[in-house]
Amino acid sequence: MRKLFFFILISLLPSTMGFADPAKLSAGKEIFNGKGMCAGCHVLKDAGANGNIGPSLDQLKPSIDVVKSVVNGGLGVMPAFGATGMLTAKEIDEVSFYVASKAGK
Ligand code: HEC
Repeated sequence: MRKLFFFILISLLPSTMGFADPAKLSAGKEIFNGKGMCAGCHVLKDAGANGNIGPSLDQLKPSIDVVKSVVNGGLGVMPAFGATGMLTAKEIDEVSFYVASKAGK
């Protein structure tokens, strides 16, 4: 009984806490450097990105909700990736997860 409890706990932890998801992180990194073009405008050390049109994400350390909303709707000269269909909802979720996990690290 106790063993079963720990098994369930351990298998649920990664998904509920949003970490230990290397597949999602690498998908997000790919979008950051590729389709999303984020690297062209932002600094993010983990991605090797040195863009200086937008703020440094390493300094800003935005929460996942902030990244999602700005990538979806745009801000200033930053394109609205969601509203224009440049990225799908799933891609926005992945790239936001990646940025929120790696900014400032
Ligand atoms: C064409 C350049 C450009 C691209 C491409 C771009 N951004 Fe931005 N981004 C900006 C600029 C400029 C700002 C600041 C906007 C302002 O404050 O007026 C910004 C702001 C942000 C912010 C901060 C929002 C806030 O509340 O201050 C985040 C987070 C962000 N971008 C993430 C991303 C991600 C993730 C991508 C890729 C999907 C991306 N950006 C692509 C230029 C860009």
